[in-house]
Amino acid sequence: MCYFRRLDILRTKITAAAHYLPERRVTNLELQKTVDTSDDWIVERTGIRERRVAAKGQATSDLAAEAVKLLLQKRGIDASEIDLIIVGTVTPDMFFPSTACLVQHKIGAKKAWGFDLSGACSGFIYALATGAQFIATGAHKKVLVIGADVMTSIIDFEDRATCVLFGDGAGAVLLEPAEPGEVGIMDSLLRSDGSGGEYLYMPAGGSLNPPSVETVQRKMHYVHQDGKNVFRYAVRGMADISAEILEKKRHSFQRHQALHSPPGKSSNH
Ligand SMILES: CC(C)(COP(=O)(O)OP(=O)(O)OC[C@H]1O[C@@H](n2cnc3c(N)ncnc32)[C@H](O)[C@@H]1OP(=O)(O)O)[C@@H](O)C(=O)NCCC(=O)NCCS
Repeated sequence: MCYFRRLDILRTKITAAAHYLPERRVTNLELQKTVDTSDDWIVERTGIRERRVAAKGQATSDLAAEAVKLLLQKRGIDASEIDLIIVGTVTPDMFFPSTACLVQHKIGAKKAWGFDLSGACSGFIYALATGAQFIATGAHKKVLVIGADVMTSIIDFEDRATCVLFGDGAGAVLLEPAEPGEVGIMDSLLRSDGSGGEYLYMPAGGSLNPPSVETVQRKMHYVHQDGKNVFRYAVRGMADISAEILEKKRHSFQRHQALHSPPGKSSNH
């Protein structure tokens, strides 16, 4: 027998945010000494002047845990109150245990469960949308969403096409139910397109090309990128989806207005 009841959807809000960056800074001028690039080229194309680099032995869970400690302090709550931890990362400390579990242990969130979410550049947004569902359905009251990466662990510092772009750091937000009438996450629209995988990928280390002397020698454990295609796809994709979600919200706003306006009055906002 199945038992059904009406599902009350709650709105999710971000109640605290924090970040952590490793101390070491690598400026464009420093990179200029080792690869054929220039401060002017990097700033003009990307706006980047420096990036942070994790210390030896400092892993993704370390950066994430520091960000979370700050966040808990800001919100004034204890780690034991956290229900769920989601870590968006492509540079987990190791395949398993998940970085979320390592963070859980480091911060002492004994009641929480957690998992990693692999969405590369979109990882934090995917994790945010996923975490918000657990609040919206009433399953959890406090969800930690973290975006953390030690990208320098998979960057070839001899490849000027990628080494100027990536750095290390962690950001964390706490999701909680919004009170009635409060502002919260209204909606999300997510897409992915696997056909573009050849433009930004790390070929080895997984089940297709397990680590071997050959994969290391062929630099297959580094990020490979066709920057031009990624740029084209990302700009077009972001613009299209931004217009799409605005349109979607415009429709639902109009529906709401029509339902709640007194008879005879119409609104054209
Ligand atoms: C990487 C990026 C800044 C490169 O800018 P671009 O104007 O497209 O540059 P191109 O790749 O066309 O390269 C132009 C020239 O600069 C050279 N170049 C590439 N990297 C360079 C660097 N770091 N320094 C100097 N020259 C460089 C190229 O070799 C090329 O030379 P060529 O014309 O002699 O072949 C841009 O493509 C980009 O932002 N891509 C998206 C990257 C991204 O966001 N990735 C992750 C997000 S999901």
